[in-house]
Amino acid sequence: MLKRTLVLVGLMGAGKSSIGRRLAVRLDTPFHDADQAIEEAAGCSIADIFERHGEAAFRDVERKVIARLIDGPPHVLATGGGAFMDPTTRAAIREHGLSIWLRAELQVLLRRVQRRSDRPLLKQGNPREVMSRLMAERHPIYAEADMTIDTPDALHVVVVAEILRKITERPDADDIIADPGGLDVAVATA
Ligand code: S3P
Repeated sequence: MLKRTLVLVGLMGAGKSSIGRRLAVRLDTPFHDADQAIEEAAGCSIADIFERHGEAAFRDVERKVIARLIDGPPHVLATGGGAFMDPTTRAAIREHGLSIWLRAELQVLLRRVQRRSDRPLLKQGNPREVMSRLMAERHPIYAEADMTIDTPDALHVVVVAEILRKITERPDADDIIADPGGLDVAVATA
């Protein structure tokens, strides 16, 4: 039923993977996680790629993996926080997908990223300072996304319903989802 790939962008801890997975279930469509695809392509973890080859090498792989995924059949795609900063990746997403920025406040992001300790960028300094700097650098670029969804500490089902509601309200909804009028946008526990 999906005609364009829905690409979730936003900072670490914004909920791109968990919300993306749920959104895909709701739309009965495949889900891909770019970070996971990068790890499969490289045969090692993202932390290992950063450590052994550096961030620039990671960004190269990230660009190639996302180009491959976005070129495939429509699906829900969760990207890593830095992916949308790349102009080539942004152009590919603009051409083939619909970008959705999951925006969250610093406090919310910091609380969520505490659950995992494998994010190399957050080890480069005090997480609050790193995240504040990334917010300042990246928010103006994330703002170029086709849609912005605020993600307060709401349940994922609520955020998914909000994404679907906003898509169905768009004038080009027919180009994104087949029969958007038939979509039940009420909060559902899919
Ligand atoms: C990064 C975010 C991570 C991962 C890598 C770099 C970033 O993904 O791609 O550690 O530059 O913000 P998540 O946003 O899924 O944590």
